[in-house]
Amino acid sequence: MQRKKIRVLIMVGGLLAGGAMFGSSNAEAGATAAMLADTCAGCHGTNGLSGGPAMPTIGGMKTEYLQAIMAEFKSGERPSTIMGRIAKGYTKEETAKISDHLAMQPWGNATSAHQSKNRTHISSKLADQGEKLVKKGKCEKCHEDNGMAQDEDTPRMAGQWVDYLIFKMHDLKNKDLNVPQPKKMAKRIKKFSVEELEAMAHFYASQK
Ligand code: HEC
Ligand code: HEC
Repeated sequence: MQRKKIRVLIMVGGLLAGGAMFGSSNAEAGATAAMLADTCAGCHGTNGLSGGPAMPTIGGMKTEYLQAIMAEFKSGERPSTIMGRIAKGYTKEETAKISDHLAMQPWGNATSAHQSKNRTHISSKLADQGEKLVKKGKCEKCHEDNGMAQDEDTPRMAGQWVDYLIFKMHDLKNKDLNVPQPKKMAKRIKKFSVEELEAMAHFYASQK
């Protein structure tokens, strides 16, 4: 419960930062992909490279993945604090345009120097522990190359913000939230404690 509150506070911070752009009319006919994707920058950073620890980096993710996730936010199938409302503001075509544009951007590691402020520091001790747990859990069956790999279903995790990955681990573990995830993954996640999952988040975030 406590965690949920903290998370909402961080999200509201992001909302305020992104509010100005979110409020503008962005769905005008003929808007370029870059213009449409600019709306996302208020929270997810320029070209989807997130500058804040609670916001995921989305630039450089696969367009198929982004489109699928946006559709799930829109339908409500995927729980969210804010993305449901945002996704409803776009047609399928606009979402495809935005996703294509974001997918063309280079992935920037959250570990890179210009983003080193205001974040949970990756603990090499936890990352080492996480590496062993990831092996034990056979997470690489899907998250190949230490989380570097991605496809239309699976997001890249290597170099993602550690705080965001920790939130996701908690959400995945929380059955009441029903976060969409493959059965084979849910079975594995269940076997680990929250502390162990957090260590795995440190491991993936530490990868470049
Ligand atoms: C007001 C802030 C804000 C804006 C603007 C915003 N997002 Fe988000 N986004 C979030 C938050 C917060 C989350 C985490 C899910 C949630 O709680 O809604 C998120 C999550 C996501 C995710 C899931 C990433 C993952 O790996 O799970 C995707 C994809 C995404 N946003 C795409 C977009 C796109 C595309 C746009 C622009 C059309 C956009 N977002 C605009 C705040 C924002
Ligand atoms: C059967 C394939 C599979 C296995 C095995 C698997 N995952 Fe996943 N994982 C996925 C898919 C697919 C997603 C995207 C789910 C979604 O949000 O739609 C995902 C998403 C995630 C996310 C959220 C990332 C983000 O940016 O939103 C985390 C964290 C995660 N997995 C951790 C793990 C861990 C830890 C293990 C091992 C214990 C594991 N996964 C094993 C397929 C798998």
